[in-house]
Amino acid sequence: MKYVVGIDLGTSGVKVLLTDEKGTPQASARAEYLPDFYEGGCVEQDPEVWWEGTLKALKALFKENPDTADKVGAIAVSGQMHSSVFLDKAGKVIRPALLWNDTRTSKQVKEIFDLAGGKEKLLDMTCNLALEGFTLPKILWLKENEPENFARLDRVIMPKDYINYRLSGEIATDLSDAAGTLLLDVKKSDWSTELCEKVGVSPSILPKLLPSVGVVGNVKADVCSETGLKPECKVVCGGADNSCAAVGNGVVKAGQGVVSIGTSGTVIGFVDKIESEVTGGVHLFNYSVPDSYYAMGCMLCAGEALNQFKRTFLSDISFDELNELGAKAPAGSGGLIFLPYLFGERSPHNDPNARGVFFGINGNTDKGCYIRSIMEGVGFAVRDLYEEVVKFTELKEVYITGGGAKSDLWGQIISDILGIPLKVLNISEGPSYGAALIALAGAGMAKDLESAKGDCVKVVKEFAPSGNTEIYNKYYELFRRLYKTNKENFAYLKEL
Ligand code: XUL
Repeated sequence: MKYVVGIDLGTSGVKVLLTDEKGTPQASARAEYLPDFYEGGCVEQDPEVWWEGTLKALKALFKENPDTADKVGAIAVSGQMHSSVFLDKAGKVIRPALLWNDTRTSKQVKEIFDLAGGKEKLLDMTCNLALEGFTLPKILWLKENEPENFARLDRVIMPKDYINYRLSGEIATDLSDAAGTLLLDVKKSDWSTELCEKVGVSPSILPKLLPSVGVVGNVKADVCSETGLKPECKVVCGGADNSCAAVGNGVVKAGQGVVSIGTSGTVIGFVDKIESEVTGGVHLFNYSVPDSYYAMGCMLCAGEALNQFKRTFLSDISFDELNELGAKAPAGSGGLIFLPYLFGERSPHNDPNARGVFFGINGNTDKGCYIRSIMEGVGFAVRDLYEEVVKFTELKEVYITGGGAKSDLWGQIISDILGIPLKVLNISEGPSYGAALIALAGAGMAKDLESAKGDCVKVVKEFAPSGNTEIYNKYYELFRRLYKTNKENFAYLKEL
């Protein structure tokens, strides 16, 4: 077998990536779709939409690249995390999935803390705090709000598991996705029967657990005839999108981490063993590299802060011009500090009320200062995440990826604020590439995830601290203080 396919099952589309046996990307295809938004923070998607999109993208990939489908040895999917697919006994979807960004479950989140016996006890059982987006609050929501659907519930799986199920007919999940349900005892890599009992969820609805590189099954005959894949093609379990993205961005062993600046932002660090005190400042999930974990700080607004500013005030200039203006402002943006909490914040504050702030506007604040302060504010929030992540692992080699890494100014600012070098790879395929590597390792076409990427992946750029770190250390202190002193004001604003 010559190829594998890595699938990135996202919220607004699915991407399929064909990679050869040496881990070199060959071709890709995409199908678009959108989630359904409803009042009250409800965001849903019909799993059938994911499956149709996946089939469409696979067919387009194989049409554009004839003679490849029958040589695909394995498929693995990276999926949006936490979103709940509710299945009945016959394996039919009961209702549309509640997505990771659905916030209707605040009541259930509070109940989980109470039923678990408090924050400390919950952290003890799962290593994570309850959040609206996670799967467990969604199960409790179904129980309380749609009892007739809950009565039919036989299994809860995640989006990528649904694709695996349609591909192979088998139901399973992997540890990286299971960890995002809040029902996994992350340290033991097994379902927490203790928490299941406390919250009244039967462990029988939870799927079989596999490592990301575990094989779920083989591609079913009907899918083979539709796509041209062969029945020998293995369906490897795959993983949570953040886990797969980190694998695809080069994080495969201790000491490695990645900063991602997309619409939202993350800092991820490989964790060998969870030894430090678990406080809930970052997520601690099982990783796609077998027998390991990752610490992930998640900020809800990163690149989108700059996009929104540009859309509102500078729609007539290009991103290159925007960068040029920002580069003219001094480090510290002439005393202007930006808090990037446009949509509330996850790590480390877990505060849905937080909002964006410009602090320190003065008579000399020009366009460049505003632009640079947004980049710096995102950088300071990245440092907040980084500081939490390094409590669990020492990072020696950190990559930077996402739209923000394309800006030399922004990459430099983040390197200066963190005071560490940041490397950029020539591969920007992220989750789909990570999934392809998982397919290679899972099908035995590569020894392990580290060797799966072969020699096509190279460092093409490196940002190194340029001497501004000391200035930024001082501004970072103020950045930290501004959140603390405004916490109550944010809550007051919400009430208004
Ligand atoms: C992670 C999270 C998001 C989704 C997006 O906790 O909620 O990153 O995985 O797909």
